[in-house]
Amino acid sequence: MKHYLNINNLDNLQNTVQEAIELKKDELKFSELGKGKTICLLFFNNSLRTRLSTQKAAQNLGLNPIVMNFGSEGWQLEYEDGIVMNKDKAEHVKEAAKVIAQYCDIVAIRAFASLTDKEKDLAEVVLNNFKKYAGIPVVNMESAVGHPLQALADAISMEEIKVPHKPKVVLSWAPHPRALPHAVANSFVEMMQLQDADFVITHPKGYELNPEVTKDATIEYDQKKAFESADFVYVKNWSSFNDYGKVVCTDEKWMIDADKMSVTNNGKFMHCLPVRRNVVVADEVIDSENSIVIEQANNRTYAAQIVLKKILEDI
Ligand code: CP
Repeated sequence: MKHYLNINNLDNLQNTVQEAIELKKDELKFSELGKGKTICLLFFNNSLRTRLSTQKAAQNLGLNPIVMNFGSEGWQLEYEDGIVMNKDKAEHVKEAAKVIAQYCDIVAIRAFASLTDKEKDLAEVVLNNFKKYAGIPVVNMESAVGHPLQALADAISMEEIKVPHKPKVVLSWAPHPRALPHAVANSFVEMMQLQDADFVITHPKGYELNPEVTKDATIEYDQKKAFESADFVYVKNWSSFNDYGKVVCTDEKWMIDADKMSVTNNGKFMHCLPVRRNVVVADEVIDSENSIVIEQANNRTYAAQIVLKKILEDI
């Protein structure tokens, strides 16, 4: 694999999930694979799980990780071509990407959506410019439109629980005081489109995701109806896509509570974290034995590790 920018870069999701589960049993099995090689982890935005799990995954493979909080410590980058750089941007991505590529063999990048410029966000300006100018493999650690390492960890988490029938999986919007990006929801939808499952998306009207991502997915505006017989309930807030980046409704009734979970098929509660308790999900749900959020976070290591392994095998 050359780059990991989207879950569809995997040649086969199901095989990759099985490989990750095997790797988890013996995480140092390939500790020589990355020996003598370096990965730069560039963070334009905050992180807990992505930063630590990707660093751990790299170390498990013998890679040397260099981590930089680019958003707060790097020069502000210019991405436009032919521009007179006499304002706040001190360095062009053309030089920055080429320079960084001299220091490492793989570059992993976190660069969230602006939520103010839809066109630029959809163009994945940061990721695609690094891909264009760095000339080394690029890994998406959450971009403007996707979080494929999270989606792969989610697929691993669901496979480990494996229900003895075609599972019903619900992606539910939940309230949040701030405008959040669509990346996690997008990648979860794209991952579910590669699964044999009864998949339903539920959200208030006005929170439709990008139709180019959801395609023909089932959308149910009645949250409790959507939850009926669900084996997995994946919860996430996102801002409006049509009224781009806006919070068009903060209806508290959409918070996940025990009453809603009671109509599921003893369903597992999933969230990528971080999560706001008693805003997105009630304590009674996230603290219940059906909550698998901690295992999801654990599987971030093995998702990153299987992705880096596949890239190292092709360098
Ligand atoms: N789920 C996730 O990506 O967590 P962080 O933002 O803490 O990395």
